[in-house]
Amino acid sequence: MSKFESHIFVCCNRRATENPRGSCDPSGCEKLRNYFKAEITRRGRKPRVRANKAGCLDQCELGPVAVIYPQKTWYGGVGEQDVPRIIQDTVIDGKILEDLLIADEKLNVRK
Ligand code: FES
Repeated sequence: MSKFESHIFVCCNRRATENPRGSCDPSGCEKLRNYFKAEITRRGRKPRVRANKAGCLDQCELGPVAVIYPQKTWYGGVGEQDVPRIIQDTVIDGKILEDLLIADEKLNVRK
């Protein structure tokens, strides 16, 4: 099997609702990841593009978070409505979605 063209890690971490950091998947049902998987399949990109469940990516305050490799693109505040354009614009066309991008200077900065 050839290497993946893109590998998307979708945070599916769930914490108790009273946790001050929040969590990307408060329901614990992996809904966002499943949207990615469905969109990859719908666009015929499987198995060259893969969306994997990830534990906490440590950018909780900016969630829901997904990171795409090899582009090394971090997106925050991702909702199901963003998934089609992430797949088309970033994964397929190689463009950055500025409205979702977590800038390098905001990564790994805990409050
Ligand atoms: S809970 Fe998603 S980045 Fe921490």
